[in-house]
Amino acid sequence: ALERTLSIIKPDAVAKNVIGEIYARFEKAGLKVVAAKMKQLSRKEAEGFYAVHRERPFFNALVEFMISGPVMIQALEGEGAIAKNRDLMGATDPKKAAPGTIRADFADSIDANAVHGSDAAETAAVEIAYFFASTEVSAR
Ligand code: CMP
Repeated sequence: ALERTLSIIKPDAVAKNVIGEIYARFEKAGLKVVAAKMKQLSRKEAEGFYAVHRERPFFNALVEFMISGPVMIQALEGEGAIAKNRDLMGATDPKKAAPGTIRADFADSIDANAVHGSDAAETAAVEIAYFFASTEVSAR
């Protein structure tokens, strides 16, 4: 099915100047950028975005990292976009990510792991709406 997913290029990858290289991977895989913005997240925004992880031991470090510099946020659209983006990203822990994936190539640690991608259709809808008004996402 034609799906949309939320993607975030995290502060580590923005600092490495690889936004374009990561966008090229999306495009080569047939994923279309249908909304995008660069943003310095506030602590409240980062905490709200990752609210499902609030009780996890890594929550504070995750929030600190996500506000350590600007992020590039985009909605991606394509056939099976959610799984496709997860395949492109590779495993959460870059040490376990398959060769040629974004995290294998650009991430340094499980915290500084270059990208975020929605994990399911329900979370994708919530995550896209968290950052984009419906008028900011191009119509299909
Ligand atoms: P992300 O897909 O953005 O969702 C939550 C983030 O928490 C995850 O990527 C990792 O960067 C970070 N994180 C840190 N430690 C862990 C862990 N043990 N398990 C899962 N995610 C973790």
